[in-house]
Amino acid sequence: MALIEVRNLVKKFDDKDVLKGINLELHEGQSKVVMGASGCGKSTLLRCLNLLIQPTSGEIIFKGEDITRSGVDIRKVREDIGFVFQHFALYRHLTVEDNVTLGLRKLKKMKTKEAVEKALYELERVDMVDHRDKYPAQLSGGQKQRVAIVRALAMDPAVLFLDEPTSALDPKMSREVVTVINKLFLDNITMLCVTHDPFLAKYISDSIVFMDEGIVVAEDIAERLFYDHEDPRIREFFMSVIDHR
Ligand SMILES: Nc1ncnc2c1ncn2[C@@H]1O[C@H](COP(=O)(O)OP(=O)(O)O)[C@@H](O)[C@H]1O
Ligand SMILES: [Mg+2]
Repeated sequence: MALIEVRNLVKKFDDKDVLKGINLELHEGQSKVVMGASGCGKSTLLRCLNLLIQPTSGEIIFKGEDITRSGVDIRKVREDIGFVFQHFALYRHLTVEDNVTLGLRKLKKMKTKEAVEKALYELERVDMVDHRDKYPAQLSGGQKQRVAIVRALAMDPAVLFLDEPTSALDPKMSREVVTVINKLFLDNITMLCVTHDPFLAKYISDSIVFMDEGIVVAEDIAERLFYDHEDPRIREFFMSVIDHR
């Protein structure tokens, strides 16, 4: 059984059809990347899947339960889905350590000592323990994103969503974050990641879902999507994002 199964998911904003019937499966231990032109509905898809926005119709089966139905505990679903954003969304007034322990203490009800131990263990994974007492303003973009990833992972979510995690970073910091996410991929962390970056996509995915104007037009491994694809929409997209020098 898939961890997440999306059936015919539709999202309209007023009269605008943004998602036009998305079908998608994500299994435990699997990592998929979603790619497609700006505005095709990638962020809307992620936000529907963790119920940040209400889908117009269709089904989202998460752990065997249709979470689009009324009476579902939305808070519980969100706690089970880690979310990493383009712009990190760290709490500016909290240190690195407190950013990571906050959810553990408030949502998981851990004692401070236990939460700190867990935070340090997770920070170690991304080589950020030495920065535990710093505030976000004292970190580089790549370091901030590593903390944001750890903050999400520390909650032991069933799946990690990432929405353009490297888009706000320069090439060097971006590589740093790709390395960290690649490590999670090799550890079989279940992930669904939106990105424009073919380098990131290739190194962190079992397969890539290509979207165009609110539908999934293809799903395949990087090697078969990136170069000279038969579908002109896919060909044009990768012509524009891959550096062909
Ligand atoms: N809250 C909203 N209200 C109205 N339109 C929206 C809203 N969110 C997104 N859209 C529209 O939906 C389309 C898809 O947006 P989005 O999912 O952010 O695309 P992507 O992440 O692929 O760039 C865009 O045309 C955008 O303007
Ligand atoms: Mg987006």
